[in-house]
Amino acid sequence: MSAEQMSALIERRLQAYLSDARIPPHLAEVMAYSVMAGGKRLRPRMLLAACDMLHGDVERALPLACAIEMIHTYSLIHDDLPCMDNDDYRRGKPTNHKVYGEGFAVLAGDGLLSYAFEIMLEAALANANDSAYLKAVDAVAKGAGVHGMVAGQACDLVNERQPAGDAQTLRHIHENKTGAMLKAAVCAGGYAAGGDETAIRALEDFGTAYGLLFQITDDILDVEGDFARMGKTLGKDASADKLTYVRLFGLETAREKAQAAACDARAALAVFEDRAAFFLALIDQTLARKS
Ligand code: IPE
Ligand code: IPE
Ligand code: MG
Ligand code: MG
Ligand code: MG
Repeated sequence: MSAEQMSALIERRLQAYLSDARIPPHLAEVMAYSVMAGGKRLRPRMLLAACDMLHGDVERALPLACAIEMIHTYSLIHDDLPCMDNDDYRRGKPTNHKVYGEGFAVLAGDGLLSYAFEIMLEAALANANDSAYLKAVDAVAKGAGVHGMVAGQACDLVNERQPAGDAQTLRHIHENKTGAMLKAAVCAGGYAAGGDETAIRALEDFGTAYGLLFQITDDILDVEGDFARMGKTLGKDASADKLTYVRLFGLETAREKAQAAACDARAALAVFEDRAAFFLALIDQTLARKS
């Protein structure tokens, strides 16, 4: 399936989930405000691409892809709250709490997180004869929670407005707050496709390296990016004394470390040979990204 077809599937299904008439209308509006504001849809596209790379059924993996985008969007809504990064813009629009207030922003996040699990478990029940599908759900759960993204966000908060910590702590933050969900995306796609141990191990290594690459470029763009292209306020890491690659190493070395992570990500893809084209291109796009 082409990348465009996969993107279209993701948009249509997300729209369908969020127009479920059983969700109270105002809550549905607040959730849809952030989800349908767009974004790069990186995690769901990576999930479906991993499934496709391993000859899996992309449509069967679609609930997992939508769920991971909902979890990611919830993490952004909560990340932007005044008690976290206190940001006013996201995906080119005022942040959720700026429009709907903090109470509803918290609830929209709660709603997206729990709805994502509802969607994944419903799909797992429909695929009850396939235990690998449950492993896909497990991978998303671990990537999202206290062993993944939430753990990274906690470490990020603990380290802000502090004297700069060490490189190991910084890597731990980035591998968890950002890397865990990207790794979960590719692994979930791999499990949904029935990938063997070698394939899953390679996807884990790729996800970890790519996650680091992605967050290093986020740190760099926070310093030298363009507001209109990024769709979010920049310069916030320095003003909150966040522990970032730019703060610890400077821009030049941060760029070198992004290149090194890109090399690791490429190496992990070697086992997939020419079927890894989507991910090889993604690495180059990420190194050059402006949004
Ligand atoms: C933003 O993620 C949060 C980070 C992990 C840096 P993205 O840059 O993927 O955000 P969207 O989904 O495109 O809005
Ligand atoms: C947040 O990292 C990662 C999440 C889990 C949302 P950042 O705080 O650097 O993300 P941005 O820069 O606000 O998108
Ligand atoms: Mg943050
Ligand atoms: Mg933030
Ligand atoms: Mg950032």
